[in-house]
Amino acid sequence: MSEIDLQGVHDTLVSIAFEAGRMILAADPNNIPQGIKKNTVDLVTEADQAVERMVYSRLCTDYPNCEFVGEETYVAGETRVTDAPTFIVDPIDGTTNFVHGYPHACISLGFAVCRKSVVGVVYNPFLDILYTGIQGKGSYMQRSAAQTTPNQKQRLPLAGRGDAQAAPALQGLGKALVGVEWGSDRQGNNFDVKVGVFQRLAAAKNAAFSEQPTPPTAMVHSLRSLGSAALNFCAVAAGQMDCYWEGGCYAWDVCAGWCILSEAGGFVASGNPGDWDPALDSRLYLAVRGAPSGGKELVEEFWSVIGDSGKMVYEH
Ligand code: IPD
Ligand code: CA
Repeated sequence: MSEIDLQGVHDTLVSIAFEAGRMILAADPNNIPQGIKKNTVDLVTEADQAVERMVYSRLCTDYPNCEFVGEETYVAGETRVTDAPTFIVDPIDGTTNFVHGYPHACISLGFAVCRKSVVGVVYNPFLDILYTGIQGKGSYMQRSAAQTTPNQKQRLPLAGRGDAQAAPALQGLGKALVGVEWGSDRQGNNFDVKVGVFQRLAAAKNAAFSEQPTPPTAMVHSLRSLGSAALNFCAVAAGQMDCYWEGGCYAWDVCAGWCILSEAGGFVASGNPGDWDPALDSRLYLAVRGAPSGGKELVEEFWSVIGDSGKMVYEH
């Protein structure tokens, strides 16, 4: 395939995001037909499916030679993210919020080449906030879909006014606002690891534990859950969260946000200790905001709180 015009991909994805936003807002909040997938907290609505059909049909028309991976058409064990240019799409990320009328849900549209995210578009129609990123061209937040002139877009990270080197220094977990999510696995090893890490992140430095030796604690400023992996990634890209730790979500939850974060000077390590270069579909992520120091020390500190025995295991 000849070289792909990433600006053209971006423009197409922004247009699709706004169309999806209109569809999502058209749903009657008092009557959202819904079903369950893996269990009673893993929800799908008619809007998720209708938006994915629209996205697929538009991308097939405009980019017939690219691959497509979407949450609602994914088949476990069959659908793979390959090296081919691929659109990786979550029609509604934050479906639980959508069902409850909690206004943090978005469409997440990513484009990956050789399994690396090179374009990301995330649009929250409830708050009318658009996040975008293109490899090598920076990432942006735009407060209204109606505002399209360049000077109405704010380059990320916000605190560094678009320059990660000018962003405030990271000051360790003890001064960090940390994104986490419960996810939809509510029993077993992965759930136990999450609950333990949440506790140690929040606990006072001298908190008493029955475990011996006492595991490291962090006493972070606080934990936050936006209920959407894509929006958590964008909050880290913007510098509103210092990092976001996740296990269990999929490539469509993170692909768009990954490009937006990288272009804001941040990076993604694995949610399990030891891997600095996790795959797009590894299902384990620790996203860190842009900062003058680069942020590796925050990852090391986070991994020490997880500890050696706390690895999560997910099928790819
Ligand atoms: C979920 C959200 C949530 C994450 C879950 C995802 P969905 O996506 O991104 O933040 O913790 O793992 O499944 O179901 O709303 O598309
Ligand atoms: Ca979804």
